[in-house]
Amino acid sequence: MKAKSVIKIGGSLLFTEDGELNKEKIQRFCQIFKKMNYFGTHVIVCGGGKIAREYINTVRFFHGNETLCDTFGIDLSRINSKLLISAFKDFAYPLVPKTMEELSTALLFGKIVVMGGLQPGQSTTSVALEVAESIRADELVILTDVEGIYNKDPKKFDDAKLLRNLTYAELQEIIIKSSGDKQAAAGEYRIFDAVSLQILKRSKIKIRVMSGKNLKEFEKYWKGEKDIKCTTISD
Ligand code: UTP
Repeated sequence: MKAKSVIKIGGSLLFTEDGELNKEKIQRFCQIFKKMNYFGTHVIVCGGGKIAREYINTVRFFHGNETLCDTFGIDLSRINSKLLISAFKDFAYPLVPKTMEELSTALLFGKIVVMGGLQPGQSTTSVALEVAESIRADELVILTDVEGIYNKDPKKFDDAKLLRNLTYAELQEIIIKSSGDKQAAAGEYRIFDAVSLQILKRSKIKIRVMSGKNLKEFEKYWKGEKDIKCTTISD
C-alpha cells in the first residue's frame, strides 16, 4: 500500500451481470481498506457504469447534446460514489467532492474520500489523473472489467495479449489505434480518453490497470504483494 494513492473503480464493477447492485462485492471492496491499518491520503474515484450509459443513450434519443449527456454521467458517478460512502460508513468523508477545491477540504479530515465526475468532456479516469496529479499520488490504480491493457480488444479477440508494461508513448499509440470516432462521445470514453493522456504525459504518474471483477488482484496490491497481474504504465 502506498502513502498516497488514487483508485479508480469503474461503475459497472458495482453491479452484477444481471444489472443489480452487487452488495456483497461493494462490502468486500470496503473491507479491503478497513482490514488494513492504512495511513496517508487515499481517494477513490467511481465511474458511472452501464447505468450511466443507459441514461446517456436515452438523453441522446431525445436529441440532448453531448454536454447534457455528460452531466448525466457525472450525476450517476456521484450517486455510485455516495453508495460507496454509505458502505464505508465512518471510514469515508461523508460528502462527494464536486470540485478540486472541495476535494482539498475533504482531505483535511484524514479519511478516505470518494468522488465521481467533475466536468463534461472527459471520463472519470481523467478525474482520477487530475486528483493523482493534485495530491502527488505515488500511484494510480485503475480497476476495470479486464485484467489490464491488451494489444487488441479482449472482448472481441480471443488471441488478445495482456501487455504487462507500457510506456506513455506506447499507451498513446494503442489509444490512437483503437479509438474510433466514438472516443469523444459521452459514455464512450475508453479506459484512457484524450484528456487523461495529456495529464499523464505532464504529470508522469505511475499507473496500474488491473481487474476489479473479483478484487483478488486489488487485495494483493493493497497488501503490498509484488506479483500482481496487471498492466503497469510508467515513463
Ligand atoms: P465513466 O465513463 O468514466 O464511467 O463516466 P465508468 O464507470 O468508468 O465507465 P465503465 O463502466 O468503466 O466503462 C461516465 C460518464 O460520465 C461523464 C462521461 O460521459 C462518462 O462517459 N463524465 C464523467 C464527464 O462528463 N466528466 C467527468 O469528469 C466524468
